[in-house]
Amino acid sequence: MTRRRVFSGIQPSGQITLGNYLGALKQFVHLQEEADAYYCVVDLHAITVPQDPKLLRERILDLASLYIAVGLDPHKSTLFVQSDVSEHSELGWILQCNAHMGELSRMTQYKEKAEGKEHVSVGLFTYPALMAADILLYQTNFVPVGEDQKQHLELTRDIAERFNNRFGETFVLPEVLMMEQGARIMSLDDPTKKMSKSNPNPQSRIEMLDTPDAIRKKLSRAVTDSDREVRFDPVNKPAVSNLLVIYSLSADKSIQTLESEYQGRGYGEFKKDLAEVLVETLTPIQERYTQIRNSGEIQDLLKQGADRARQVAAATMERVKRQVGLGGTTL
Ligand code: TYM
Repeated sequence: MTRRRVFSGIQPSGQITLGNYLGALKQFVHLQEEADAYYCVVDLHAITVPQDPKLLRERILDLASLYIAVGLDPHKSTLFVQSDVSEHSELGWILQCNAHMGELSRMTQYKEKAEGKEHVSVGLFTYPALMAADILLYQTNFVPVGEDQKQHLELTRDIAERFNNRFGETFVLPEVLMMEQGARIMSLDDPTKKMSKSNPNPQSRIEMLDTPDAIRKKLSRAVTDSDREVRFDPVNKPAVSNLLVIYSLSADKSIQTLESEYQGRGYGEFKKDLAEVLVETLTPIQERYTQIRNSGEIQDLLKQGADRARQVAAATMERVKRQVGLGGTTL
């Protein structure tokens, strides 16, 4: 039996957070053992909002290096940069022509990102059609993401189904894969908001490359709830519950075990210990990251990844063009 295909991507649009790690990257690492996995640095998505070109270039290589530092193995997974495989833009356009204004207008990520802005790019609006292209190009079975991407995945399935009905069976319908805990890690300063690399307040998040001191400071300032009890209760104690999820996933201990370990010990000790767990988790990742980022090998690895990805993408694209009736001389 052929291995199941997995595809996912992360935007190189800021410092990667613990939310990206616990919600997405950790799943990527597990899945590469059993699936035919494609992991992409989605730089075309990043330019839906203004980016400094020099910084973007660096961030693409930073994120690719982080992929490897957290445990993605370029011999097991196909790691590449979206704009290196031009089929993403090409299919993105065709899918834009099969997506409806109404369904794109309902996307909450678009509404949140567009809110209060004087100028919003057309690309920010059509962003989900490009995301659908990323996924459908690889005939993907599973897409590991955090909860905020679930709506985009539903839209991807709708577009794929519509396309298949109109032009004949072309795309596999992908399924979303989310962590039971960790699909929505919340901000340290406000447990009603998700932890995000684009939040203007850096105290709201742990970044993967934060120093031990920064981690300790951010944790000591993290908001907690009114009583002193370390108990998992997302409705009444959202801040502590979020920290419990982070602790549980980082230390690989159940929430129940943590609740009994910290019974009667208060928030101070709990937050101090959590900071140490995070330092222990992130330090080896950071050491590998520095080594890879400085090795000069990352661009070669990405080139090999793009060559592999392009083969799959080109085969889908050829079929799509034929189905839609496009092309003059090539088909
Ligand atoms: P991005 O770059 O915003 O986030 C990357 C991944 O991290 C997850 N995530 C979180 N998970 C848990 N808690 C959080 N606080 C948290 N914040 C972010 C996201 O859900 C995501 O899985 N549109 C995508 C990128 C993309 C993509 C794709 C993903 C483009 N094409 C194709 C999958 C397949 C995005 O903006 O992710």
